[in-house]
Amino acid sequence: KRTAVLISGRGSNMLSLAEAAQADDFPAEIALVLSNIPGAGGLERASALGIATATVDHRAFNRDREAFERAMDEVLRINQIELIALAGFMRIMTPWFVRRWEGRLINIHPSLLPLFKGTHTHRQALEAGVTEHGCSVHFVVPELDAGPVIAQAKVPVLPGDDEDSLSQRVLAQEHTLYPRALAEVASGRVALVDGAIARL
Ligand code: GRF
Repeated sequence: KRTAVLISGRGSNMLSLAEAAQADDFPAEIALVLSNIPGAGGLERASALGIATATVDHRAFNRDREAFERAMDEVLRINQIELIALAGFMRIMTPWFVRRWEGRLINIHPSLLPLFKGTHTHRQALEAGVTEHGCSVHFVVPELDAGPVIAQAKVPVLPGDDEDSLSQRVLAQEHTLYPRALAEVASGRVALVDGAIARL
């Protein structure tokens, strides 16, 4: 499946997907890395791997979210993209875009959903005093971070942890979880059917 990875930043998850996808038997090809932030670190890392990159700067669309998304959609169409993996992409998508890509749009979120939606998830976890934390890959639905969960990985919260140490422990898990989850979706072993996870 021709897959686009959408990023806003350093792109370490993008890199883990791109590296996994280099294996001959991996069911997805990272055909495009698209950023909404000009000069995002991940763009250069993608180019270095020979992956096509594009930037659609949301600030050029004067807060018109759909116009921004139509521009992205056009780039995705031109590149014949079939599947989208969000990886640190910091824009909330409209119902229009989400419905258009329903079942073909996945995201990685740094918490054990449904816990700790939104941003600053590691801070939220520390403040809540949980002993276990982690990350989730889910299908995207219009409601933020509320889509059906494809896969999760857990880490312990250790005494003395701060946001930095905890986020690093979770990030290491993200880098193995996301390629596995993308492979399941790209191969059709996991699908979104009637708003729920179906496993074949
Ligand atoms: C990751 O923690 C991801 O789960 C979150 O944003 C971060 C992106 O990091 N949504 P990177 O750009 O993949 O390194």
